[in-house]
Amino acid sequence: MSSEQALSGRFPLDCNAVRGPLLHFLAEPGVGTPAPDSYEYLPDGVLVWREGRVLATGDAATLLPELPAQCRVEQWPDGLIMPGLIDTHVHMPQLSVMASYGTQLLDWLETYTFPAESRFADPVWAERGAERFVDLLLAHGTTSALVFSTSHRGATEALFRAAHQRDMAIITGKVMMDRHAPEGVRDETRQSYEDSLELIGHWHGRGRQRYAVTPRFAATSSVEQLTLAGRLLGEAPGVLMQTHWAENHAEIAWIRELFPDRKSYLDVYDHFGLLGSTSVLAHGIHIDQEDRRRLAETGSRIAFCPTSNTFLGSGLFDLASAREAGVEVGLATDVGGGTSLSMLATLGEAYKVCQLRGQSLNPFQALYMATLGNAGVLHQADSVGNFAPGKHADFLIIDRFASPMLRMKNTAVSDLRGLLFDLMILGDDRCVRRTYIAGHCRYDRDTAQGVAFDACLSG
Ligand code: GUN
Ligand code: ZN
Repeated sequence: MSSEQALSGRFPLDCNAVRGPLLHFLAEPGVGTPAPDSYEYLPDGVLVWREGRVLATGDAATLLPELPAQCRVEQWPDGLIMPGLIDTHVHMPQLSVMASYGTQLLDWLETYTFPAESRFADPVWAERGAERFVDLLLAHGTTSALVFSTSHRGATEALFRAAHQRDMAIITGKVMMDRHAPEGVRDETRQSYEDSLELIGHWHGRGRQRYAVTPRFAATSSVEQLTLAGRLLGEAPGVLMQTHWAENHAEIAWIRELFPDRKSYLDVYDHFGLLGSTSVLAHGIHIDQEDRRRLAETGSRIAFCPTSNTFLGSGLFDLASAREAGVEVGLATDVGGGTSLSMLATLGEAYKVCQLRGQSLNPFQALYMATLGNAGVLHQADSVGNFAPGKHADFLIIDRFASPMLRMKNTAVSDLRGLLFDLMILGDDRCVRRTYIAGHCRYDRDTAQGVAFDACLSG
């Protein structure tokens, strides 16, 4: 093909491509047998992108002849090309808190979490911690996330910087917590509001970064701070709101004592103007139909965090009831209450929580939730979540044979349901062969392992 022909063809000369089995979702697949038009699965597919944006997907047999000779096509016959995973609730400063023994929520916060977060007052610690965190997200195949920072403005800036440098879409915010927490993590009511406002001004909409107003939970914010959090939402349209809600019985009893005039825990957030379609409430385990009705009515979302909910002994989230009530639910790791940054491992635990409730989570639904579904929960579905042309080329090369068990099962690509269920139950970060952000490889298992992360461990 001459260069004139290539130039006049469908694809520009400087496009890039990967070839292999390819899966992405186009719509919600439903809870039973997935609707055939809800996903595209190509046993021998191609993803083409240029300047960070998806140009096309298609069958190799059709698409390859259309690509210009200059287009580099990487071959991944043993892989699975899929969109990057999205985490709707995770804590940047809690990596070291993971796997802390023996406590439930309120003791866990006092004993392990607040001390770990207080270290992020130190700018050097915060910088290293933020960089380590985003690199570990990438190593786990997570390309976008809604993240709790700490109450420190500097740590929040460090997280935005680290994500921005990697062109990674992160939504985060300075944690607001002006009471019932030790010095070192407790902030000051007015300063917290002003810091949040300045961070919004500087970071919200800068590159791929967005801001989330972040009152930790109703117990650690005064009435004045919750009022100011509500005001921030009104003052900065388009910012998200994230908090914790109805996770643990002792927590719920405490909220009842602190807010005797409010008819429920959810009503506390409602009263301060903190519900709405840009609000993501982590957990929502111990709730009733009235709560679900109000969530659906306001468009507020729940982040379901299965590994955290079992590890902290919090309870079993009722996914089917939330769905039936029309509540949008995202999946999340909630590290460090959660026990893995891997969204694949999280899908497996979500399946088990559903089983314990007599419900089922099929692999199509689960992988939809971890990609396009979570993108929708975070209002990002116009830019990530699948391979629709024009979206950011955030994608993974999954190694289908990453562990001895997966190799032993050796599920054929023609058995898509089996393949996805294997990944969901047996898969984890070992399956992440490569992670691409806007078309750039930001994690390669072969070159990164043992180099980038060893130094972190001593930190
Ligand atoms: N509730 C308030 N803070 C936290 C936190 O850091 N993790 C979890 N799981 N729940 C919380
Ligand atoms: Zn959390």
